[in-house]
Amino acid sequence: MSPFAVEGVWAAPGRVNVIGEHTDYNNGFVLPMATPHTARASVGRRADGRLRLASTHAGSESVDVAVADLAPGALSGWAAYPAGVLWALRDAGHDIGGADIHIDSDVPVGAGLSSSAALSCVVALALNDLYELGCSRVELARIAQRVETDFVGVPVGMLDQMASLCCTAGHAFFLDCRDLTGSHVPFDCEGVGLRLLVIDTRAKHALVDGGYADRRASCEEAARLLGVPSLREVDDADAALAALPAGPLRNRVRHVLTENERVLRVVAALRAGDVRGIGPDLTASHASMRDDYTISCAELDTAVDTALAAGALGARLVGGGFGGSVIALTAADRCDAVAEAVEKSFAARGFTAPRFFGAIPSAGARRVD
Ligand code: GLA
Repeated sequence: MSPFAVEGVWAAPGRVNVIGEHTDYNNGFVLPMATPHTARASVGRRADGRLRLASTHAGSESVDVAVADLAPGALSGWAAYPAGVLWALRDAGHDIGGADIHIDSDVPVGAGLSSSAALSCVVALALNDLYELGCSRVELARIAQRVETDFVGVPVGMLDQMASLCCTAGHAFFLDCRDLTGSHVPFDCEGVGLRLLVIDTRAKHALVDGGYADRRASCEEAARLLGVPSLREVDDADAALAALPAGPLRNRVRHVLTENERVLRVVAALRAGDVRGIGPDLTASHASMRDDYTISCAELDTAVDTALAAGALGARLVGGGFGGSVIALTAADRCDAVAEAVEKSFAARGFTAPRFFGAIPSAGARRVD
């Protein structure tokens, strides 16, 4: 393969969702922040209509395909995300020729921190710049979402893509998924002597296995039963819950309705400068996902329970669930003790050793070279 023609380098972060889980596809509220970890893409245009892909992590394995031949399901693994962006842009009517794309990412894979959205977003931004498409960040987020929903086949919402493209350093991003309007909320843990610790449980994170799609289908069914376009349009939560049959459907709806309320409370607390005060809502969010939405697992519950017992102010699973990471809000001087306690309880239960990251609200996608 001839050397890649590089015209620039772009970076897009993963995300940690502070709160607002499984609310995005219900037109609800989310509050993500960008990770310091990014996917970087070195990109150049090609005049011959070919897409060539390589990745630092894929060794000598590379892809060389005609852009015109790209179709949903055509590629799997990491290459599907950059390739899917070219497909989605062309499908949306943009005049995109070929490209050389070299990927390098330090967003942990399988940790529930949106490594795949970071890949799609970085490529979407790079092609938008190079091909002068003039798309807004929201339009690029929709393109990146179509990569997941239509090219790869996972019916995700807009949380990850909007976070990667729209977050700013030092802030969480309060997003209303109904109209995709958002505002940046100062989120400075360090400044008030706190830390947001990410605990990657290394447990399997399997959105493609159907648990995610099944939850989404339940929400749509409930909205139909309640006669509203989406669960966001429910204005009397108690009446809506009473109108649904007791059991999993009602419980799932209760998670979504209460989670939206928790996001609003957390945003209000952060705006009032009360970072410490968000702890109980983080923990309540976890309980709701464990008991009502049933998307937790032993590793996630152990990480949350141990972190709280070791003094964390609040803790919850982040992302789609069924594995991945937990966030724990701790006093700065308790952070190491919390991590050690989680490490020990994982070892005692025979779980794979967890990994830890510090979460500092970082910048959204950008050109870096
Ligand atoms: C995954 C999806 C998002 C969102 C979260 C749950 O990360 O990609 O769209 O639904 O799960 O909040």
